[in-house]
Amino acid sequence: MMQNDLFTAIAPEMEELAPGVFLFQKYIDEELFFNQAMKVAETAPFRHMITPGGKKINVAGTSMGDAGWYSDRRGYRYENNDPLSGNAWPIIPKNISKIISNAADKAGFKDFIADSCFINRYEPGVRLTAHIDQDEQNFTQPIVSVSLGVSAIFQIFGETRGGKALNISLNSGDLLIFGGPARRHYHGVKKLDNFDHPLTGKYRYNFTFRHAL
Ligand code: SIN
Ligand code: FE2
Repeated sequence: MMQNDLFTAIAPEMEELAPGVFLFQKYIDEELFFNQAMKVAETAPFRHMITPGGKKINVAGTSMGDAGWYSDRRGYRYENNDPLSGNAWPIIPKNISKIISNAADKAGFKDFIADSCFINRYEPGVRLTAHIDQDEQNFTQPIVSVSLGVSAIFQIFGETRGGKALNISLNSGDLLIFGGPARRHYHGVKKLDNFDHPLTGKYRYNFTFRHAL
């Protein structure tokens, strides 16, 4: 075996793209996650929330877990129950939780257990403006994100919104972790292209697993 082959054979499934930013390409079972999104939507449908300032959020969202991220006129926060129904959010299935904890472990985040997962749904032309995830209690815990369906460009800026971004192409089945110094960095998603994906149609789904409480 040549040296190069050897390197390929032991190549890690994970790549650190910047301090605290880890990409696992084609890492997860797309059908497992897609079916889960559809199942969640049966009881906690995707909806367009309103910002505290009264603007409609173009990315549709829902949640699973002990708490769900929520936004309306009263502010950004985590809600224990879905305000639409008054019922608890669907649970994060154990098998999915395990996959997420394992990936976090590989990136050096021991004992990461997601108690909340926000599921975003993007349609063509929709983007996510740069923001920091900052409604969680503990910033030593990373964000673990899973992408499904139509590909998108995820951008990580730095401590400020502008400047040069690290552009990461997120394709269906990819898992991305941002923690450590990147945990409180601005990030966003570029406008979604108008494509058809065999599993999700025109949509892109993103699961954002967090330790929120
Ligand atoms: C987010 O930052 O909340 C979502 C990121 C993504 O859709 O990839
Ligand atoms: Fe975010």
